[in-house]
Formats: sequence, structure tokens, C-alpha cells
Amino acid sequence: MKKVLIVTYSQSGQLNEIVDNIIQALQKDSLVHIYYEKLLPDPEFPFPWTDISFWDAMPESVKMIPANIRPVAFNPSEKYDLIILGYPIWFLSPPVPLTTFLKSEKARKVMKDTPVVTVIGARNMWVSAQEEIKKMILENGGKLAGNIALHDRNQNLLSVVTIIYWMMTAKKDRYLGIFPKPGISDKDILNARQFGKPVHEALMSNNYTDLQQKLIDLGATDLSFDVVAAETRAKKIFHVWAGFIRKKGGPGARERIGRLKMFKWYLLFVIFAVSPLASLVFYLTYPLFFIKIRKNLTYYKGVALR
Ligand SMILES: Cc1cc2nc3c(=O)[nH]c(=O)nc-3n(C[C@H](O)[C@H](O)[C@H](O)COP(=O)(O)O)c2cc1C
Repeated sequence: MKKVLIVTYSQSGQLNEIVDNIIQALQKDSLVHIYYEKLLPDPEFPFPWTDISFWDAMPESVKMIPANIRPVAFNPSEKYDLIILGYPIWFLSPPVPLTTFLKSEKARKVMKDTPVVTVIGARNMWVSAQEEIKKMILENGGKLAGNIALHDRNQNLLSVVTIIYWMMTAKKDRYLGIFPKPGISDKDILNARQFGKPVHEALMSNNYTDLQQKLIDLGATDLSFDVVAAETRAKKIFHVWAGFIRKKGGPGARERIGRLKMFKWYLLFVIFAVSPLASLVFYLTYPLFFIKIRKNLTYYKGVALR
């Protein structure tokens, strides 16, 4: 009998849908026992979000400051053969509930010497968050064996508009009837089933050596170089803003609303005015940095930590 622990955090349920499709291959096998833990923040983050509450989640997400979650129900002293960790991205970082879990004693206990497969459901920028997740898994003694990262394939600026509409209304439909549907496409969510097979094989053979390469071959971690370049630069700037905002207090502090609004307008300006130009520059200079860019993309698609 193989025991699998699944730990996820999802507000709309999109991430859970992806995980549910991936684990179909495992559920069909009577030799696999699955324990599913859905993390619940206490208090809950709003969904739909209000304007300020959305931006207020930035500083603690980026600085990875734990908050409260409801006690988990699984037994951390139990030895699992595999842990599947599913999460969305918040401001290029792990969402606060997942950070809270990963920094807990129970996570440390359950992860020790255990293979971990991460599942991400993002807009399109997930590599910086995954770097932090890699570190936390390693600190807990776990072994990252695979990563499946699905994202919205629509053009960057379109997906910004549609995700804000989705997050502020909780409606995953076409904004004004003209924009594409927000989030990861139904087709990609359904096709996530294909990733279950190599995960199941690795679990049954207890051999995870080739798992990530098999997942990459199936397109589990598609990346585009201009998005990665923009993200890694932006993450450094987010850290500066997070520190600047936190000087005015912690989550919910009225004193920091002014700075949160400054950050909001700064970010929207950068996304809509600066990033199209920056993308053009990246494309024009691509041949000059070809080898370095290829190396970086290969690294981010993998599970090693440098
Ligand atoms: C506060 C917040 C910040 C987000 N920031 C990012 C981000 O930086 N990069 C990204 O790809 N997606 C970002 N997203 C989108 C999420 O990754 C995810 O696709 C969406 O929230 C749906 O996830 P769910 O399964 O929790 O409903 C953000 C979402 C929220 C709520």
C-alpha cells in the first residue's frame, strides 16, 4: 500500500480541479491510499477580494510572513510515500497560507525524507515563488521530485485584466463578453490528467529520478523567456515595496493604505506602460543572451536548487 498526502490551498477551486485531474491515475489504483488536506486560513482571505484587501496581501506574501491557518487534520507522525503540494501564486510568491503551513512544525515533521511533487495554478509568473518553495521543502528535509505548473496562456496584458476581474467578482466568465475567460483554460485543466501517469509510475516504483524530465516532455513547465526575465526583475522591486509598506504596520493596518495605493498604481503603470516596451527589448536582444537565457529556462523548469 502506498500512502499519498495531498496538501493544497485554493480560493476559487481552480488549483484543486487541476490536482483532482492529476490524481485520477492514483485514485484508480486500489494500492494507493490518498489523504487530502485543504488548507484554510483563519481568518479567511476574502474571495471575491475587495480592492485594498487584495493589495494588502502583497507585503506578507513577498516577505513570506506566516499568519494563521486552521489546524491540519492529517497525522504528521505518519510516513507518507509521496506528498503533493498544490498552490496558486500571490505577488510572485507562495500564498500566505502555504508559507504558514510550510514553516510549521507539522510540515517539517511530515516532509522529512519524503518525495514532494508541486502543482501550481498561476496566471503566468510562478518561477520566483517556486524557488522559495524549493528552499522551504529542502529546509523541511523533503525532496522535490516533480513540478507541474499550469498557467493562463492568453497574452500577458489580457490575462492581467481578466484575472483582476475574476479576483474582484469571483466570476470566472468573459469580462464584458469580449475578453477571454480568466485563468487556466478548461482544456489545460482537463489535460492535467496526463501528468498523473508518470507520477503514479514513480510512486509505485519508488523511483523519482526521471520524473521531472517526463513531466517536462509532457509540457508540465512551459515557460517563456520574456515573462521569466520580467518576473525575476519585478520580484526584487516587490521586496523593496513590501519593506516600505510594512514600515507602516502589519496586515489590515489603516496606516499602510496610502502606501498600498501607491504600490497598486505603480504596478499597473509598470504592467501596462513599461512591460510591453521591455518585452520588445528582450526579444530584440534575445540572440545576444541566447545561451544564458536557455540555461536559466532549463534551470527553472527543473527541480534542483542552485
Ligand atoms: C493576491 C493575488 C496575487 C496574485 N499574484 C499572482 C502572480 O504574481 N503571478 C501569477 O502568475 N498569478 C498570480 N495570481 C493568480 C493566482 O496564481 C491564481 O491563478 C488565482 O488566484 C486562482 O487560484 P485559486 O486556485 O486559489 O483560485 C494572484 C492571485 C491573487 C489572489
